[in-house]
Amino acid sequence: MEVELEAKKHWEHVYESKPSDAVSWYQPHALRSLDLIRRVAPSLGARVLDVGAGASTLVDDLLDAGMTQLSVLDISASALRVARERLGARAGQVRWIEGDITTVPLEPGSVDVWHDRAVFHFLTEPAERAAYVAQVRRAVRPGGHVIVAAFGPDGPLQCSGLPVVRYAPGELHAQFGEAFELVEHQSEDHRTPSGAIQHFVYCLCVVH
Ligand SMILES: C[S@@+](CC[C@H](N)C(=O)[O-])C[C@H]1O[C@@H](n2cnc3c(N)ncnc32)[C@H](O)[C@@H]1O
Repeated sequence: MEVELEAKKHWEHVYESKPSDAVSWYQPHALRSLDLIRRVAPSLGARVLDVGAGASTLVDDLLDAGMTQLSVLDISASALRVARERLGARAGQVRWIEGDITTVPLEPGSVDVWHDRAVFHFLTEPAERAAYVAQVRRAVRPGGHVIVAAFGPDGPLQCSGLPVVRYAPGELHAQFGEAFELVEHQSEDHRTPSGAIQHFVYCLCVVH
């Protein structure tokens, strides 16, 4: 619980002290995520959960694409506020969830597409990762999809001053277990606002 509070404090401070387009993970458009989600979402009404979304513009682009059942979850209320304010009246079309992904209550089978860019890699303790995987298994319906992007083997050792775990595609997939079939993986060189290159691995899995 104390660790959870520390994490919340850290992330609230990040979003209160930096413009959302200045953080290292900023993307004007999350094009790779957008493409993967649109490819696997069975319809525009597919229930998409963006986990640890921060102030990402992914939700804006998913709304623009016509998607109607979007949920955005983050541990930081400040991050969610930034995204809501940017969306203005359209924010009302989105479900906003403030909580820690390892503990927040999620309705069983309530998600068709789970998306996480740069959140799972912060879980450095096996127990936190097990709790995360249990959440995915509970929340994503059988036949649903999971997209997780984490720093790759050549990625940084830290993000936002916090330690991370880096994964090759097979290692990332192995964290999830047999119920998750790896459909494809991609790698991406993300350019941060300050011009550094960060190597990401994206895994797309279907849940059985
Ligand atoms: C590196 S940022 C990535 C944000 C966004 N996914 C993107 O790609 O722009 C990590 C995000 O995860 C959130 N976060 C960190 N730990 C979390 C947790 N345990 N539960 C929910 N959100 C968390 C942070 O507040 C932050 O917004």
